[in-house]
Order: sequence, then structure tokens, then C-alpha cells
Amino acid sequence: MKLLFYAAKVYDKKSFQMVLDQFEDIEIDYINHELEPRTAPLAKGYDAVCAFVSADVGAKTLEILKENGINIVLMRCAGFNNVDVEKAKELGIIVKRVPGYSPESVAELAMGLALAVNRRLYKAYNKVRENDYTLRGLRGVNFYQKTAGIVGTGKIGAAMCRICRGFGMKVIAYDVYQNPDLKDFVEYVSLDELLAQSDLISLHCPLMDSTYHMINLESIKKMKDGVILVNTSRGALVDTKELIEGIRMNKFLGIGLDVYEEETGNVYEDRSDDIMEHSVTARLLAFPNVMITSHQGFYTLEALSAIAETTLSNLVAAKEGRRDANDVA
Ligand code: NAI
Repeated sequence: MKLLFYAAKVYDKKSFQMVLDQFEDIEIDYINHELEPRTAPLAKGYDAVCAFVSADVGAKTLEILKENGINIVLMRCAGFNNVDVEKAKELGIIVKRVPGYSPESVAELAMGLALAVNRRLYKAYNKVRENDYTLRGLRGVNFYQKTAGIVGTGKIGAAMCRICRGFGMKVIAYDVYQNPDLKDFVEYVSLDELLAQSDLISLHCPLMDSTYHMINLESIKKMKDGVILVNTSRGALVDTKELIEGIRMNKFLGIGLDVYEEETGNVYEDRSDDIMEHSVTARLLAFPNVMITSHQGFYTLEALSAIAETTLSNLVAAKEGRRDANDVA
């Protein structure tokens, strides 16, 4: 089976090559280009394509893939908001993903961001490097005995709940389904109650029509003053322009974002020489209480090898016509 692997980075090749000998029948060609309508014809002659979070797996791309004989799309990630699922179903293209490769890798980054913005670790690091040993601007708060509000308690949200409990925090959560594994220490509340009671709010739900811009000026106004907000899920859960208004209202002690609305053109690119004329991200980065990382939640050794193994197992399953919980379409 021949797999065309789009937007391949050095670490992708390493982690996939490491597990490839377990899959004798699979051959992989890696290319740097992102999957999008322009690059979809390159898949001609392959059995499947593999894509990531910033690919454009919309209707046009799917149509071109189909025209070129592709019936299997393997997403090497959990989120699939960039896939036109209805179109894939209509065209009979199987789309599979990796739903739970290592929830702790993302949850631990979420807590890392919360700690970093609370204690201004990015500032402290630079200050000491500059021989500035003052504490100005570094005061934080204890997490111990504070309230953590977790939005979405699936695999990653549940891991974040466990981490927050380990810090001695009271853990409350909002989800459309309650996770029975958490019933001993998590109290489910309405979203409004979560916004009003939490000292740390961490977002772990998928991006869908119902969650698009769930953090907006109206929801920000319902939050406590001095709240910490962390988003490691998808950028568009947060309305960036309204977040900036909230920051200007002094609502936040800190904001940690591993994902943000404008990330698509940036993710894993070096844009240090570019002038970002219209960037709201640049505006966000100007605030002293904001820290942004570039979608690195999945980037641990354990997560990468689990992603590689599941993606290639997904190819075998798709080829054998097996439908399972990893199916998106
Ligand atoms: P999951 O599917 O296990 O859990 C998602 C949870 O969100 C479910 O419990 C679901 O009921 C809940 N949910 C659905 N609609 C909701 C709503 N309207 N309000 C509140 N909760 C709602 O997914 P998992 O594995 O925990 O991943 C969560 C998200 O994390 C993914 O959708 C993805 O966008 C993001 N992610 C980010 C990564 C990164 O590198 N930063 C890596 C992997 C995932």
C-alpha cells in the first residue's frame, strides 16, 4: 500500500519510520507540501493520503483526491474540524483519525501554560538572562485550593482534571456528557457557573458550530476578575478580538494559548522575517500576561509514536474495510 504523507516534518519521518517495520505492506512517500486543492493531484497513484491539522481537507480537496483515485484520508491528529465530513461521506472517501494518542501530552502542556502565565516564567527566564534579578511583574497566585474549570471532559479534559486535582484544586467541569470516570472528584456545573466560579479555565472540547467562539465578550464578562484562561484545543473556540477587549478590561491574570485563530499559515513555519500587517496574534503577543505556543500539545515522544502506530493501523483497517471508533467518515 502506498501512502502519500503531506506536510512531513523531520520528526514525522522519524516517528513513522520507527514503527514502519511493523507494517510490511506499507510504503510511505513524504512531501513538504500541505494537502490543499493545489497539491491534491500529487496523490495520483497512491492508495491513501495522510494529513495534519492545518491541511485543507475541504470539499474541493476531497473532490480532487477522488478524481485521482484516493478513497482513504488518514488524519494524523485528533481534531478534524478541517475536514468536510459530509463531502467525504458523499464521495465515499474513508477518513480516519487518531482520537486518543496521549491525552496527557496535551493536558500537561495545558497545565504548563497555566503555570507559565501565572508565574510569568517567560519573563523570569529572560530577566535572569539579562542579569535582572528583580521580581517586578512576576507575582502570581497559588493554585492550591483554587477552582479549576474544565470545559470538555473527554480524554484530554479528564487528564487535565486529574492534574488539577493533584495540585489540590477544586475541580468543576462543563460538558454535554458527564464522564463517569471523574465522578469521585469532579462536580459538573453549567457553563455559566463554571465561568463565574473558576480561577483557571481550560478548554478541552472540539471545535464545532456549537462551540465556535464560545469564549467571547459576553462569556468573558461572566468570568472572575484575575482568571487564567488556557486553550489547547482549537483557536476558534475563542473570539480573539473579543479576548483582546477582555484583556484590556483587566479581566485576566494570564492567558496561555497553544492554538489561536490565525495559526493556519503559521503552524510549524519560520515566519521570523515576515511583517504581520493585519495580525491580531501580534496584538495578543504585545500583552505581558499572554503566552502563545505553536500547537505543540501533541509533541511528546510518547504521543508521536502512538500517532504513527495508530495512523498506519488505520490504513490497514481502511484497506480491509474495517469500520471502527477512529472513523470520521
Ligand atoms: P474527546 O472527544 O475525548 O473529548 C471532547 C469532549 O468535549 C467530550 O467529552 C465531548 O462531550 C465534549 N464536548 C462536545 N461538545 C461540547 C460542548 N458544546 N461543550 C462542552 N464540551 C463539549 O477529545 P480529546 O481527545 O479530549 O481532545 C479535545 C480537543 O483537543 C480536540 O478536539 C482537539 O481539538 C484538541 N487537541 C489539541 C491538540 C494540541 O496539540 N494542542 C492535540 C490533540 C487534540
